[in-house]
Amino acid sequence: MTTTGTTTESSPRRRLPGAFSVRTRITVVITVLAAMAMAGAGLLVYVLEAARVERQTVEQVDQETAEFRALQRGLDPDTGQPFRSAEQLLELFIQRNVPDDDEMLVIYPPGSGRPTARTPNRDGDEVLAEPGYREAVDDLARTGGTRVLGDFPYGETWVTVVPVREEDSPAPGALVIVNFLADERDEISNTIETYAIVALLSLGLIVLLAGSQSGRLLAPLRTLRETAEDIGTTDLSRRIPERGNDDITALTRTVNTMLDRLEDGFGAQRQFLDDAGHELKTPLTVLRGHLELLDPRDATDVEETRELLLEEIDRMSRLVGDLILLAKAGRPDFTRLRPVGVDTLTRGVLARARALGDRAWQDDGVSDAHVEADAQRLTQALLQLADNAVKHTGPGDVVAVGSSADATAVRLWVRDTGDGVPEEDRGRIFQRFGRSIVRDGDEGFGLGLSIVAAIVAAHHGTVHVEDAEPRGSRFVLTLPRTAPPRTDRVPASDPAPTPEEQPWPAS
Ligand SMILES: Nc1ncnc2c1ncn2[C@@H]1O[C@H](COP(=O)(O)OP(=O)(O)OP(=O)(O)O)[C@@H](O)[C@H]1O
Ligand SMILES: [Mg+2]
Repeated sequence: MTTTGTTTESSPRRRLPGAFSVRTRITVVITVLAAMAMAGAGLLVYVLEAARVERQTVEQVDQETAEFRALQRGLDPDTGQPFRSAEQLLELFIQRNVPDDDEMLVIYPPGSGRPTARTPNRDGDEVLAEPGYREAVDDLARTGGTRVLGDFPYGETWVTVVPVREEDSPAPGALVIVNFLADERDEISNTIETYAIVALLSLGLIVLLAGSQSGRLLAPLRTLRETAEDIGTTDLSRRIPERGNDDITALTRTVNTMLDRLEDGFGAQRQFLDDAGHELKTPLTVLRGHLELLDPRDATDVEETRELLLEEIDRMSRLVGDLILLAKAGRPDFTRLRPVGVDTLTRGVLARARALGDRAWQDDGVSDAHVEADAQRLTQALLQLADNAVKHTGPGDVVAVGSSADATAVRLWVRDTGDGVPEEDRGRIFQRFGRSIVRDGDEGFGLGLSIVAAIVAAHHGTVHVEDAEPRGSRFVLTLPRTAPPRTDRVPASDPAPTPEEQPWPAS
């Protein structure tokens, strides 16, 4: 017992080295976009928060300065008199003002008095002893202003000096406002750290979801590829399951329809080869049989057999000619469409058909319409019909050729008063090797009408057979109507088929 190997081995995955799957690419793109969005949001929050802290500090400093200036302009609330000295003003200010958590107020009485510091959370004297601080205060003692101390043991610290002058004092006094920003900055850093952790976790979740979702969405595409890989030229019967109702389903449906057409095409081709092979085998068997029985010493026998064999070879040549013609029929250059006068065409066919046999040839009426056609091929088709009509009638029977036209279509037909075609055979006779009633001595193959059908299809038209009055059949070609040609256009040349394509017996 043998088992057929799976086709997976014979169908390598055709992804180039270094190329990534669509799923990976979708996941990467989504992840990168999400990461960029999150990083952007984090950065924005950081920048806004940092700006807020600075704004708050500036406001705080402004507020303290404004309060001090207001006190400077006013009267001593204890005495109701203007302040006696700058020292008194500074002391009153520091007594009445409670510094914020991250603030320190320091007063320097004019002259070289000792500074007094007030701060809720830090050791004021330690801060006062810091060289960085002292340098800033010394620098700003006369001019006033704010200095930011970045590299300071208490973290980022702002030192603002408001000088207070007294006329008879050698050195000015000052109010110093110290703001410690470190806590606020730490708070922002903590927030950003928490945000970064949450963002990274979310990103991980996004990677998982994007990977699984894109995998799920692309699953039909994978099934499609796998099934397509499994479909060999020998078995075109498999179809891809159609699930859902999205664009991938539409693609699946298109591929399935294409497979239908391919299967039909391959089936027809196989059938055609079968039939053609079979038909060619018969004459070859006949040839062989005759040659085997031939007595080479009997001159009469040789002569008779020679005649027979030549006839058989003619038949084979005709069959091969028909098969070549049918094979050509699918090609785009099979017909060269040009405007053709239907009247010329009809009369031309009738004139040529008369030679096919002794019949009562008639004209069923001729249309003066024009049609976009290959005159040679159309003549060939109509002569096939006339040849059939002759084969299915006897001497004296009527065979008529005619044409008519309406707004949309042109009809050309061949009518006879012969055997007619039984209703049930009317579909089959247009197929290759399809035959119905066959009279004695009719050596046809059943290819004539399939040639007619192929020619008509190349003209975007149709062909059908119907009963004729009073008896017999009428084969009608229906072609789409076209406008008459402009006078400067060259009409179709000689409509006669070339000798090798001549579809009727030469006799
Ligand atoms: N005018 C007709 N009257 C009656 N039957 C017809 C007529 N034309 C065709 N048929 C039937 O249709 C069949 C197919 O015709 P078709 O022309 O395809 O083949 P054929 O004439 O038998 O052979 P070939 O044309 O290859 O020499 C014929 O065998 C015959 O049975
Ligand atoms: Mg025929």
